[in-house]
Amino acid sequence: MSNQIDHLLTENRRFAPSPEFAADAVATAELYAQADADREAFWAEQARALHWHTPFTQVLDWSNPPFAQWFADGELNVAYNCLDRHVEAGNGDRVALLWEGEPGDSRRVTYAELTDEVKRVANVLTGLGVEAGDRVAIYLPMIPEAIAAMLAVARLGAIHSVIFGGFSADSLRTRIDDAGAKVVITSDGGYRKGRVSPLKPAVDQALADRGNGPQATVEHVLVVRRTENEVGWTEGRDLWWHDAVAEASADHTAQPFPAENPLFILYTSGTTGKPKGILHTSGGYLTQAAFTNRVVHDIHSETDVFWCTADIGWITGHSYVTYGPLANGATQVLYEGTPDAPHPGRWWELVEKYGVTILYTAPTAIRSFMKLGREIPNRFDLSSLRLLGSVGEPINPEAWMWYRHVIGADATPIVDTWWQTETGSIMVSALPGVTETKPGSAQVPIPGISIDVVEDAGEHVGNGNGGLLVITKPWPSMLRGIWGDPDRFVETYWEKFQDKGYYFAGDGARLDDDGDIWFLGRVDDVMNVSGHRLSTTEIESALVGNEAVAEAAVVGASDETTGQAVVAFVIVKQSYLNEHSPEGLADGLRKWVGEQIGPIARPRDVYIVGELPKTRSGKIMRRLLRDVAEGREVGDTTTLADTAVMSVISAQVK
Ligand code: WT7
Repeated sequence: MSNQIDHLLTENRRFAPSPEFAADAVATAELYAQADADREAFWAEQARALHWHTPFTQVLDWSNPPFAQWFADGELNVAYNCLDRHVEAGNGDRVALLWEGEPGDSRRVTYAELTDEVKRVANVLTGLGVEAGDRVAIYLPMIPEAIAAMLAVARLGAIHSVIFGGFSADSLRTRIDDAGAKVVITSDGGYRKGRVSPLKPAVDQALADRGNGPQATVEHVLVVRRTENEVGWTEGRDLWWHDAVAEASADHTAQPFPAENPLFILYTSGTTGKPKGILHTSGGYLTQAAFTNRVVHDIHSETDVFWCTADIGWITGHSYVTYGPLANGATQVLYEGTPDAPHPGRWWELVEKYGVTILYTAPTAIRSFMKLGREIPNRFDLSSLRLLGSVGEPINPEAWMWYRHVIGADATPIVDTWWQTETGSIMVSALPGVTETKPGSAQVPIPGISIDVVEDAGEHVGNGNGGLLVITKPWPSMLRGIWGDPDRFVETYWEKFQDKGYYFAGDGARLDDDGDIWFLGRVDDVMNVSGHRLSTTEIESALVGNEAVAEAAVVGASDETTGQAVVAFVIVKQSYLNEHSPEGLADGLRKWVGEQIGPIARPRDVYIVGELPKTRSGKIMRRLLRDVAEGREVGDTTTLADTAVMSVISAQVK
């Protein structure tokens, strides 16, 4: 990491907003002054951009930290805010979704059509017994029904738990169980990389593995037909979406729910093996998701075509595919497939086809396009683009420059946005049209957000220094807890800076001489691979779950394309070696992890070693393994129980 810091320290390119962009920008410098003058009044004003069935009179209740309540006596319906109110305002014919399937089929869905669909699905779910507070698991590809499903659940005041379609049956099962879902919404499959990727079989397996014990909460499975592959069917439990929705009434009146009514649970990896169910509620979440989408993505709903490339299985898809853009009545592109199917210019073809004006994506994607060369994007007309965004991991200055130069024709502003599943929406970012940008720096907290970089005891580090990123005041879209585990919520985020009452984000950061923030990656055992969060412990437990493995240690090693890559060191059981040859085992273990957790968790490298570096108290020194994985000279080994072990490992890796 010190290499990276040196590199960042010498970065001095600056890009001032153009007068033309600034003249028409949603954001203004005034916003900072307004928020500084009265933070709560500022957020109350942003919240009033939503429709409240019952207006709130209270803004923030922080009487029981760290459990915040925002706008608690107000009532709203999240789906009404994303749908009906736009139709009632005369914008029913505006396109909400410009959907493109991977094979090239496409659909335009207007706000009126989406509202109609969501009302029907809400009626279907009610018919299946779903009520406010019930959990509904969603396991779908990127098709319009995925968004309709989320909004239908929200419309009923129920809680969705979207599970990324790339997760395995096992990951699906633990998430369904933890949330106690009553209904699962899935599809026969989706298209990925030119093939049908089945989804329903994973749901069937997950539900079969659970047996009929007290955990077996799922009563129905609602199945969208997308790929027409053969699927198993459980009579009485399973029903087709197209049948049920066609039969359902399109009349449905959205009921108001309290601002703090839970909206969704989204599982994310922590430092232990068990994923955390991050809980978000309604009013504060929607306020900040919509506000940041307006001011950071500069959404002009009547003219823009927004495209956030994230899958709805991640928080970025929740906040900047479903909730932010739809609450703002924007038009957006939704794409089912991978960036390189059927050809490596697919994204740029879509930008041209739909006239995308704002593109929001991850550094990993930018770096893989960089690798393929500018000839590919150069073949398409990208002149509609006027703003580019980045999210998910630090963007290195070279990728930032390439993004601006090749995709943005040296003209578009770039916003590098830092936030987390837990923060619910953007927290740190330049404001386009306002901020002079610096390649590689996420820069400043958005108006109304209080952030600091501190040393271990919680004191501000001062400009020119590095430390830990903290959020010093509660914010509207903050997580309200971890589903079913309030203690873990307090321990994970609030205990470290208990005296100060700061939220500990788990990220290292540095303040430059202007006080701008440069993110330096996680400081805990969480890896960031292609902008997706993975836990070292979770992958280690998957590895030791394999019959061949005695011990495993996993590290995140820097990777040119994916930011970090999973590298595993495993000790194989002698009993296994007595009966099997180790040949092909490393590859087999990579596959195994992919099956246990999902393809995103599959290690880049698995090294079979004789020993792992441990301290005298038995703690694995991952720092040393990272040195090996990154091909560096191994650092200080003096605290190892056996100082010779690293040279053995280095030799085994080569
Ligand atoms: C972690 C959160 C935010 C949605 C996608 C990931 C890293 C995120 C940035 C950025 C540097 C970033 C942090 C953070 N991260 N955005 N712009 N610059 N780092 O959400 O899976 O909850 O992961 O992603 O390390 O803690 P997530």
